[in-house]
Amino acid sequence: MKLKFQSPTGMHDILSEEQKYFKKIHDAVEEVAEFYGFKRIETPILEETDLFSRGIGLSTDVVKKQMFSFRTKGGDHLTMRPEGTASVIRAYLQNGMQSLPRPIKLWYFGPFFRYEKPQAGRFRQFWQFGLESIGEEGAVRDAEIVQVLYAILKKLRLKNIAIEVNSIGSKCCRPYYRKILVNYFKSRSSSLCANCQRRIKENPLRILDCKEEKCQRIVLQAPQTMDHLCRDCHQDFKEFLEFLDELELPYSLNPHLVRGLDYYGKSVFEIFSSSENKEEGQEEGSPALSKNALGGGGRYDGLAELLSTKKENDTPSTGAAMGIERIIGAMKKDKIKPSHKAKPQIFLAQLGGLAKRKTLKLMEEFRKARIPVLESLGRDSLRAQLSAADKAGAKYTLILGQKEALKGRIIIRYMSTGKQKEVDMEKIVKEMKKLCK
Ligand code: HAM
Repeated sequence: MKLKFQSPTGMHDILSEEQKYFKKIHDAVEEVAEFYGFKRIETPILEETDLFSRGIGLSTDVVKKQMFSFRTKGGDHLTMRPEGTASVIRAYLQNGMQSLPRPIKLWYFGPFFRYEKPQAGRFRQFWQFGLESIGEEGAVRDAEIVQVLYAILKKLRLKNIAIEVNSIGSKCCRPYYRKILVNYFKSRSSSLCANCQRRIKENPLRILDCKEEKCQRIVLQAPQTMDHLCRDCHQDFKEFLEFLDELELPYSLNPHLVRGLDYYGKSVFEIFSSSENKEEGQEEGSPALSKNALGGGGRYDGLAELLSTKKENDTPSTGAAMGIERIIGAMKKDKIKPSHKAKPQIFLAQLGGLAKRKTLKLMEEFRKARIPVLESLGRDSLRAQLSAADKAGAKYTLILGQKEALKGRIIIRYMSTGKQKEVDMEKIVKEMKKLCK
């Protein structure tokens, strides 16, 4: 039977079992990112639509097809953030972070929104964590981002992580490369899929990661960015690879890796877990999804200038983001369980109004002593409460009846034997601390 209300297509409740994975990933990101000097930032879910259309690029799929945009009652054009980089750079400019010592290293963790066709690992509301390193050039910063991502995945005990890297050149060499690419594809246009025929004019680099078989055959012979990098970009990429070698990271070159957000230049990368099916879910859409990547990123030196009204000083930057649901999917495939908290061993049972009031107070004392307890405050029958304690696997039930409550005493019931002893209410937390060690 269809329910009267359901969550919107591609958007999900995150229930308590799933929350354990979210927490585990969040804690790993926090620990590793903060160690490397990244500070937490949180930006609004909504931003001006222009921030994304300018920042990400008008011809990208994200801007053309995937944004949740609307007009407010006041007439503002707003969009639910489809990614975090443009927002972080906006926050960097707006909050005067230009005056801080460089690089400014920030991390975030939150929900993002893209109007996509939902399928395995692809949602309309999904979660990402991201890292942005703003204000410093040099391949060492790109390598640092990859290192932090890798360390986070290793901390989560993910196996078989693969990193793909490429350089897509920058302002100095990409226009020329784009030109020869357009010429190449134009002469073979009739053999390309309809989407790619359109892309020749709009976004020829994206043809390189099209998964249509007929396009792939043509892409195989296409000119590669790496053969057309200027000296500066070539040197930069070489250094990036040397850092990855030094770090012994499992990377491979993918000359067709282009990413799909327009702000990138120079080094780009994506990270996969080999338990993911790389070909699954391919469809025109997010760049990362073309291979069902766990995450991706790269250098975006021109973005701050593009989003600023003033001519900014140079703000070379680099960063990456990873999909939380994708990481959880990989963890499940690798049979990695989020660690669970120790199950409470103590169950609080009460009989009568006074006892109920005292139990609520007692719970607070256990909380302060960091001893987890279970309760059944809504039940009044002792039998029902003992049966609930049994079902929950509690080792001890503390029984507070009307009589005990008046005397300031409480009963400890040992659930395995059924034996009971009465102790002073004031000493119960200390007593249980000893028993639960
Ligand atoms: P992106 O490659 O578009 O990059 O997204 C990063 C990751 O977010 C993807 O690899 C994927 O795991 C996840 N993701 C994207 N779309 C969806 C979706 N519809 N459902 C589930 N997961 C999804 C960015 O967003 C850039 N801002 C990364 C970056 C940061 N570059 C520099 N700094």
